[in-house]
Amino acid sequence: MAATRFADRMLAQLDELGRISESPDFLQRTFLTPEHRTAHLRVADWMREAGMEVEHDSAGNVVGRYAGTDPDAPALMTGSHLDTVRNAGKYDGMLGVIAPLACIADLHKRGKRLPFAIELVGFANEEGTRFGASMAGSRAVAGTFDGAMLKQTDKQGVSMGDAYQAFGLDPAKVGACARKPGSIAAFMELHIEQGPVLEHEGLALGVVTAISGAKRLRAEITGLAGHAGTVPMGQRQDALLAAAEAVQYIETRCTGTPTLVGTVGVLETLPGAMNVIPGKTIFSIDIRAAEDSVRDAAIADVLKEIKAICARRKLEVRITELYASTSTPCHPALMEAAEAAIKAQGLPTMRLPSGAGHDAATLAPLCPIGMIFMRCTRGISHNPLEAVLPEDVEVATAALLHFIENFKPVQ
Ligand code: GLV
Ligand code: MN
Ligand code: MN
Repeated sequence: MAATRFADRMLAQLDELGRISESPDFLQRTFLTPEHRTAHLRVADWMREAGMEVEHDSAGNVVGRYAGTDPDAPALMTGSHLDTVRNAGKYDGMLGVIAPLACIADLHKRGKRLPFAIELVGFANEEGTRFGASMAGSRAVAGTFDGAMLKQTDKQGVSMGDAYQAFGLDPAKVGACARKPGSIAAFMELHIEQGPVLEHEGLALGVVTAISGAKRLRAEITGLAGHAGTVPMGQRQDALLAAAEAVQYIETRCTGTPTLVGTVGVLETLPGAMNVIPGKTIFSIDIRAAEDSVRDAAIADVLKEIKAICARRKLEVRITELYASTSTPCHPALMEAAEAAIKAQGLPTMRLPSGAGHDAATLAPLCPIGMIFMRCTRGISHNPLEAVLPEDVEVATAALLHFIENFKPVQ
């Protein structure tokens, strides 16, 4: 590919962010860690270079503002997250920060100001990798941050509140960055699709119709640890066997209903020794569907079944909800504007729902939201194999710039 207007620099920036990791072996950059700070400082440098004023806000987000000609006009907000899952790819979230950065750098180079300001946010905690609860950064901006989240702890037992303190932020003031209703005209997020639909359809870009709601639960099953050699099979209170049944039930219950998906991604066995009957298991449950009622019905069945399994095996169970979000539609006018921006690049497009959660959904109580999806190779995401085509990056950024330059408030 010849030298590009956007993609070469963007891919180099994405590679650079992809190297800021808590582990030398894989990409993991979680909330309120030194790597969080390093990545945000780097993005802040790039924002300033692109003509933006930068703030590191009360929730740990990095926010760049490219002023418009009318200081009173509501701003157009864009951005995505800079945190990652464990063993992550380098495009999930980061593309949605680096692409608007390239758009604003282009406007700056041309000396062009729009009637409204553009705010670019690098959100601090979309994934919830460290504490379980997702979206702390975007919830704070939306004015929906729940102080109860501060009590959630990481694997080392450090609470989110203490981690905020250690990061140099006041946990009592996380919500201070909430935007006033009416101050943000819309939020538009560009994100890799994280699924195979666009690639299958031979399309670089798609327009998101709605973002699925999700619930995340933590289940703790307690039995009785004992000697692996002496306790007869019929007399055990093995916590792991109950968890195994529960995991299988989740698969069965979530299979066959369109858009319903259930995942157990974390399972810990205690004490975790080869010759000890597991006395405790702790596991995560993530259940999602395009419709909240479908998801909630599945969760009710899963809880009932886990209780029944534990009663039958004479085990104790405690299930706590870590996170819940509702299914969120994108604004029709923003869908149309995104479609027009893609078509202006000479590309066909399609509409599709998002099964993954996104900061955009969290911002819906604040302003109309929209999303553009970009194809990723084989639909793989949350995996270091995550890959994109440079020509898709180029055209996605051109479409986003078209959207920004032609944006008209929708309400
Ligand atoms: C975020 O990637 C989520 O959907 O869990
Ligand atoms: Mn993700
Ligand atoms: Mn993401």
